[in-house]
Amino acid sequence: MSECCESKKCPTPTWSRIGKPKGSSVIGEILALANRPEVISFAGGLPSPEGFPVKAIEDASDWVMENKARVALQYSGVDGMLELRQAIAEIETKGGVPTMPDEVLIVSGSQQALDMIARVFTDPGSKVLVETPTYMGALYAFELCQPEFVSLPTDDEGLNPDLIDDRVKGARFAYVMPTFQNPTGRTIGEERRRKLAEKAREYDFWLIEDNPYGELYYAEKPPVSLRAFAPERTLRLGTMSKVLAPGFRLGYIAGPKHVIDAFKQIKTSMDLHTSTFTQLITARVLNEGLFKEHLPAVRKLYAEKAQVMLDSLELYMPKHPEISWTKPTGGMFIWLNLPKGLDSADLMKKVLASDVPVGFVPGSAFYTSDPEVNHCRLSFVTVPSEKIRAGIKSLAEALKTFI
Ligand SMILES: Cc1ncc(COP(=O)(O)O)c(C=O)c1O
Repeated sequence: MSECCESKKCPTPTWSRIGKPKGSSVIGEILALANRPEVISFAGGLPSPEGFPVKAIEDASDWVMENKARVALQYSGVDGMLELRQAIAEIETKGGVPTMPDEVLIVSGSQQALDMIARVFTDPGSKVLVETPTYMGALYAFELCQPEFVSLPTDDEGLNPDLIDDRVKGARFAYVMPTFQNPTGRTIGEERRRKLAEKAREYDFWLIEDNPYGELYYAEKPPVSLRAFAPERTLRLGTMSKVLAPGFRLGYIAGPKHVIDAFKQIKTSMDLHTSTFTQLITARVLNEGLFKEHLPAVRKLYAEKAQVMLDSLELYMPKHPEISWTKPTGGMFIWLNLPKGLDSADLMKKVLASDVPVGFVPGSAFYTSDPEVNHCRLSFVTVPSEKIRAGIKSLAEALKTFI
């Protein structure tokens, strides 16, 4: 009980099954330590504020207030503002799947889409297919509906559809992040995307393609979307969080209209609609050619930071057959593999207590069950280059004491 509650003698409510507060977790406690100001933290999943297009957003919001204030400040339709859905339908169409505005639903961040997906597709015990490792925020959202998680087979090239077998029978959907995955930074190649679509048809499950990082490529564009290989059974999630501003809480779902219509019902009961004001600002920014002007600068910034971390890992990490890391070609994350038997949570405790304390997310956070503990997720985009170097050096020093 908190101090405030003790003084006010607040009773504890009878919690619902999903509302009952979870006890503190080891990872939660370590991550709290990683938030201390003196720590060089590779733990965050936040985009770099340096990349926010502040001027473009300021201009667009002035324009909205001058030209559409009375629309912007009013309630609006659950599906989202037409001008924004049109702009997104164009992006999706250019990405390889002809898309109409009524095949797009605007949501309050793709995290809301994940919550809705669980509610629309699953009952307690329904099979849900996930990559291992995968985005923990998706696991938290899905868990509320008590599914049975089934791990999809993965290797160094990400999800391997050739190994999908009868264990997936009856699954409602597969949640996958084919491009610059969180937490590994891996990208699934085109051939694997095609095969995964074939497996989805063979076993009759839906594909949820989560794509927050696809625009953040460093040099070469990533392969065509997974949705392009099975548009009839894929929902593609997009978000403005990593390319514009996460504070807008603005994302979208693109997919077949009859499914989008079902999502509209759920969304109405959740929040009526996503903020009209931020939708109109975003539509203006998109229609004014934001992606052309702003994204190349963000890609360059992220590519430079990724390179600094990759070079530092190469320079400082002990040479050991079981120490390796992914080499992403876009996105925000590197996945560091440690020797089997070494728990990255122990490594983190050690390096947090060192002269140059460093934080990261221990890999076990990204599994539904049987976590592999010998991995670390390293995020580099918000850390200045000299601190990336110092942080990796310190991490390597701490690691040497274990091997
Ligand atoms: C893979 C993935 N999906 C969804 C989200 C949620 O993003 P949003 O800000 O759009 O809710 C994140 C956020 O980090 C993410 O990494």
